[in-house]
Amino acid sequence: MTRLAIIFGGRSIEHERSLKSAVSVLSAIDRTKYEIVKIGITKEGKWLLYDGPVELIGTGEWKDYAELKLLAEPEKYDLQILSSGKTLKDIADAAFPVMHGPYGEDGAVQGVLQMIGIPYVGCKILGSAVTMDKAITKALLRQAGLPVGEWKVYYKEEIEDNVSKVIADIEESFKYPVFVKPSGYGASIGVSKANDREALKNSLTEAYEFDRKVIVEEYIDSREIQVGILGNIIPMASAAGEISYPGEFCDYHTKFSPDSGIQRSVPAQISPEKATEAKSLAIAASRAVDLKGFGRVDFFLEKDTEKLYINEVNSIPAFADECIFIKLWEAVGLDYTDLLDRLVGYALEK
Ligand SMILES: Nc1ncnc2c1ncn2[C@@H]1O[C@H](COP(=O)(O)OP(=O)(O)O)[C@@H](O)[C@H]1O
Ligand SMILES: [Mg+2]
Repeated sequence: MTRLAIIFGGRSIEHERSLKSAVSVLSAIDRTKYEIVKIGITKEGKWLLYDGPVELIGTGEWKDYAELKLLAEPEKYDLQILSSGKTLKDIADAAFPVMHGPYGEDGAVQGVLQMIGIPYVGCKILGSAVTMDKAITKALLRQAGLPVGEWKVYYKEEIEDNVSKVIADIEESFKYPVFVKPSGYGASIGVSKANDREALKNSLTEAYEFDRKVIVEEYIDSREIQVGILGNIIPMASAAGEISYPGEFCDYHTKFSPDSGIQRSVPAQISPEKATEAKSLAIAASRAVDLKGFGRVDFFLEKDTEKLYINEVNSIPAFADECIFIKLWEAVGLDYTDLLDRLVGYALEK
């Protein structure tokens, strides 16, 4: 049996989303094939070995029952379990960081696992770091000849120093509305649509609270199409799905409130030609940003022109029953438990 460490929680504000994803993964993973080791990282960054029931992860109570701390041992490049003297490598053959956002999805945890020498699910350090940063992702996609909308980058310091100059520069490059986002975040945190100069000023200061690097993008009036990716060197694409919602854009509330009216339709109601185009763009995008194992590529399908633009690439999409990533694969005949099995398989591949 493969001993698999499921790592959850973490220091980002996406901590709770990670708990939710981890509960879902732990409930679906094949226990006849995997012996599970649960490792939770607290919001303060403490690594705890947790032996209790899965239900207490969702509520956050797991922390009170996780006693054995993991301590980084730089000389041994391993994580030592304090009370037992064992290391992480002694108890796990592979790891699956089920984490979202900074520290978990950006190459940080991947770097620790890389140093220890434990195979892990998903992107390596490079692909994780690249896909966490929306501006770097766009630059690489454009360099690869793939369709992305126009964007510009501004730093907190420039905005604080002379916001009028930044706004003048934005107004010279774009028409209103524009989208403003922290470059290194997800879950629509700090994302806003600015319809005029006054709103733009607020959007800029809101975004830099989360990341000093702010990305400003042209607005694309569109439908939102998503494609899953699986595999290492030769990736394959899932069905194409669509998310739709009543509001102006897919903000935090739309994504996470049960009553927001968001709909996740798989397959997307688009022509077979468009779906094929989205899938091949998704594969090309995953190669351009060094995605490994799995991921999700999100598109804008412009309403007027029917043109596809790649919006972003997610290296650890959310897992939960309602999540589109699972549905995208179920639509091509791969059920959730088999999907997870494949993810671990890719991690163990040479
Ligand atoms: N350039 C844009 N044009 C139109 N809508 C956008 C644009 N950028 C973002 N949005 C809207 O904001 C949402 C969140 O932005 P996104 O870049 O996907 O960030 P996140 O990583 O937080 O999901 C998108 O799903 C979409 O609804
Ligand atoms: Mg998104």
